[in-house]
Amino acid sequence: KPVRHELAGAASHTSGRARKGNSLREAIERETDRPMAKLGWLASLAAAVVVVVTLRSPLAAAQLRPGYYASICPNLETIVRNSVRQSMAQSQISAGATLRLFFHDCAVRGCDASIMIVNSNGDDEWRSPDDQSLKPQGFQTVLDAKAAVDKDPQCRYKVSCADILALAARESVVQSGGPNYQVELGRYDGKVSTKSSVVLPHVDFNLDKLNAFFSGLGLSQTDMIALSGGHTIGVTHCDKFVRRLYTFKGARPQYSPPMNLAFLRQMRGTCPLNYSPTTVAMLDAVTPNKFDNGYYQTLQQQKGLLSSDQVLFADRRSRATVNHFAANQTAFFDAFVAAMAKLGRIGVKTAGSDAEIRRVCTKVN
Ligand code: HEM
Repeated sequence: KPVRHELAGAASHTSGRARKGNSLREAIERETDRPMAKLGWLASLAAAVVVVVTLRSPLAAAQLRPGYYASICPNLETIVRNSVRQSMAQSQISAGATLRLFFHDCAVRGCDASIMIVNSNGDDEWRSPDDQSLKPQGFQTVLDAKAAVDKDPQCRYKVSCADILALAARESVVQSGGPNYQVELGRYDGKVSTKSSVVLPHVDFNLDKLNAFFSGLGLSQTDMIALSGGHTIGVTHCDKFVRRLYTFKGARPQYSPPMNLAFLRQMRGTCPLNYSPTTVAMLDAVTPNKFDNGYYQTLQQQKGLLSSDQVLFADRRSRATVNHFAANQTAFFDAFVAAMAKLGRIGVKTAGSDAEIRRVCTKVN
């Protein structure tokens, strides 16, 4: 019987209660984003600093290597590649959902698949407000790949969910037209997942806040700009950028980087004031479904929907890198691959009391 993530089982995001028998599509359609966490950014960053101290684990990261499963599960990469291909054929949005899932996993408690744990008491990462817009398709892609891996008797219960997620993220990039790269492997799965550990960047972050968050993870401004290029695929819901389209009476004035006027009018059509919570728009207006440097050209044209994206072009300190990646796709791909490797080393766990190879990705053994 295939394993399904509770999220894929169509829990209503607003009620948080599982409803049986609903399809993935219905789950998406019902998906309503919660407002971003109420924490102020200062509190978020302070918490990030605390978390990051425990996230840096250079020793464990040093043990990662591409050939880790060469004798344990020699066909691992082919199995995951084929499984992700099937997931992408079933749902166009699975690639973006899977890549984002990898980021949200690594940035919180390190790359240990803690994002996938479903705790019976409801206190787990995926139910935190900042993870409410993660799509079921990302979880399902990993669960399906795990099932495919465990079907091979040589591999059964020997490959961590964290490694399968890292491989599935790579496949999502490659099979969307992005760069191919070797994935370092050998991560163990974490045993802990709590809502309170979730600290992620928000759309209203300016360059300083984005840099502070990523430098807390050991990533540079260039890494951050390259990883933001993950927004070359995938979508965003209206609530994430609607405040940039209208002036709301009484709203706290907030900085918003400039938006192309014709595009702004077009987006008012997509997201009217009474927008539906399920309406989405492409993050890369130039080449929406292709993993390429169109995202940076989108920013040059001032068609970035998320303020945190457009600010990378608006701020003079990051604009040169945006222009460089917009003009030179190879430079973007090289920087993205390097940054993904660094992201994949965050907080890595190896064999020990705080880690294991999970048999079922949604449950601690
Ligand atoms: C720089 C800070 C970042 C912020 C503030 C941010 C924020 C967001 C937001 C608000 C969305 C739209 C969610 C929705 O409405 O459904 C989104 C989507 C996405 N993000 Fe990010 N993100 C950041 C960095 C990253 C990174 C580092 C990656 C991976 C390398 C990434 C990959 C994605 C992908 C692929 C999507 C599309 C998801 C989908 O279509 O389901 N993001 N992000």
